[in-house]
Amino acid sequence: MKTDPINAACVALLFAAIAFGTCTPLHAAPQGDLGGFGDPIAGQRLFVQKNCVRCHAVRGAGGTSAPDLGRKNIGTSFHAIAASMWSHSPGMTAKMSEYRIPHPQFADDEFADLVSFLYFLNYFDEPGDPREGKVLFTEKHCVRCHKVGQEGGTTGPALDDIPRDTSPLQLAAALWNHGPAMVDSIKEAGLEVPQFAGSQSLDLFAFVRSHGRRTTAPRFQSPGDAAKGELVFEDKGCSMCHPLFGDEPGTGPDLGRIELRGTVTQIAGQMWNHWPEMHRVMKRAGMSVPQFQDDELKDLFAYVYIARYRGEPGDAERGRAVFQGKGCSICHGNDGEGRIGPALRDITVGMSREKITQAMWNHAPRMHEKLGDQNLSWAQLGANELADLLCFLSTGLKPVPDPSGK
Ligand code: HEC
Ligand code: HEC
Ligand code: HEC
Ligand code: HEC
Repeated sequence: MKTDPINAACVALLFAAIAFGTCTPLHAAPQGDLGGFGDPIAGQRLFVQKNCVRCHAVRGAGGTSAPDLGRKNIGTSFHAIAASMWSHSPGMTAKMSEYRIPHPQFADDEFADLVSFLYFLNYFDEPGDPREGKVLFTEKHCVRCHKVGQEGGTTGPALDDIPRDTSPLQLAAALWNHGPAMVDSIKEAGLEVPQFAGSQSLDLFAFVRSHGRRTTAPRFQSPGDAAKGELVFEDKGCSMCHPLFGDEPGTGPDLGRIELRGTVTQIAGQMWNHWPEMHRVMKRAGMSVPQFQDDELKDLFAYVYIARYRGEPGDAERGRAVFQGKGCSICHGNDGEGRIGPALRDITVGMSREKITQAMWNHAPRMHEKLGDQNLSWAQLGANELADLLCFLSTGLKPVPDPSGK
């Protein structure tokens, strides 16, 4: 029996949501400079309605004629994801005509919702593999100090005391909070401070959780509150050292610009990897290592995660160069006055980046036809190029003054 890809995809997403601990909409407070973030739940529906799911799977559920968008890293910002859709548009259009699927059109906030859904796919943890975790528990020497089940040392607390339903992020917070004492005892034992790569932290935590002797009342897990997280980021002093797409470098890396891949828990694991160095800098700055309570770490990373969606700010001047370099000006005119294509200066000025990209996407089939006439090839755009281009289209074009003087 063939499973219906559409239902299967919905189920997969639900699973992802459950693994992460929530089925509630991920309304992550799009406010202030978090604006522009669409509604990922609406985006999830669109992914099905607009037929994306007929070709693309999300973590194994859905079509197989195109990359699995839950497994492939398709981008870590709005610009990166939109640029990837744009650059792959010719290949997609060809497949769509082969399958007789109409080129999807988007209205209102639909494109923004869809992209935020794709962005959030990475936010969820895939369930870690406890067997891998067991191996890591030995390899990373955790077993020398921590008891899980029958095995393990007693220098540190027994980890099977930790309840089963502890979320991966709560474990990451526990690890972080106990960092100062733990790192001292690790160094005393002549061991290296453990580092986590890829999904290792998830696997380790899955192992620890699978041995939890206690279960507590299931606790409602929200995806984290970005607005609260912004305050945590201030209160715990992170903002003192870490800019987020800042104009000036900070003591620590710019958390918008560094490579931070994977789910929130993996990002928390990455923070742990930098523990020794961060600790050193904090001590020098006369700070004690911040401690996290309750959902603070979750909120914090929800904030960082969503702030990263904004991506690198664009630059209108550079955008003009992209507009010309990529051949947009051949059809739309050097100043967007219009030639073969419409006069963009009457259309895109003041529009949001989401709306401009949506208009580009909607018109892509016609643009594609005209390309053939002009002997041009489809412009490939990188994330930063798209950011600059959108900035130019929104702010760099001069609308023609209305002759009636309005
Ligand atoms: C008819 C099949 C089909 C449909 C429908 C379709 N796609 Fe695609 N998509 C493809 C193919 C094939 C590729 C790879 C194209 C290439 O590499 O040139 C692709 C590539 C992509 C990529 C880039 C992946 C990468 O490798 O980085 C993204 C993102 C994407 N599609 C999103 C979407 C979204 C969102 C929708 C729904 C609006 C959608 N696609 C609908 C077939 C399809
Ligand atoms: C050399 C000994 C040592 C090693 C190796 C070690 N730990 Fe620890 N760990 C400790 C000590 C000591 C504490 C308690 C620190 C404190 O009292 O604040 C601790 C605390 C913890 C906690 C917090 C427990 C709680 O009750 O909240 C976690 C989680 C943890 N360790 C996980 C790990 C993992 C995972 C590894 C392997 C990657 C590891 N530890 C390796 C000594 C060690
Ligand atoms: C006193 C300055 C300082 C403070 C405060 C600070 N950090 Fe850091 N942070 C650093 C430095 C320096 C590094 C780079 C360490 C290294 O190179 O190993 C770093 C690294 C990181 C990384 C890893 C970056 C990467 O390249 O992978 C993350 C994530 C991070 N910090 C998050 C935080 C968060 C969240 C807070 C607040 C709870 C915080 N930091 C507070 C200085 C600081
Ligand atoms: C080969 C000619 C051609 C090229 C090159 C081209 N366009 Fe277009 N563009 C068109 C045509 C024709 C339309 C109108 C399509 C339609 O009516 O469906 C259009 C429509 C648009 C729209 C939608 C306007 C509206 O009415 O909402 C935007 C935005 C746009 N193009 C931006 C760009 C950008 C940015 C580039 C460069 C990456 C570009 N175009 C390259 C021909 C082109």
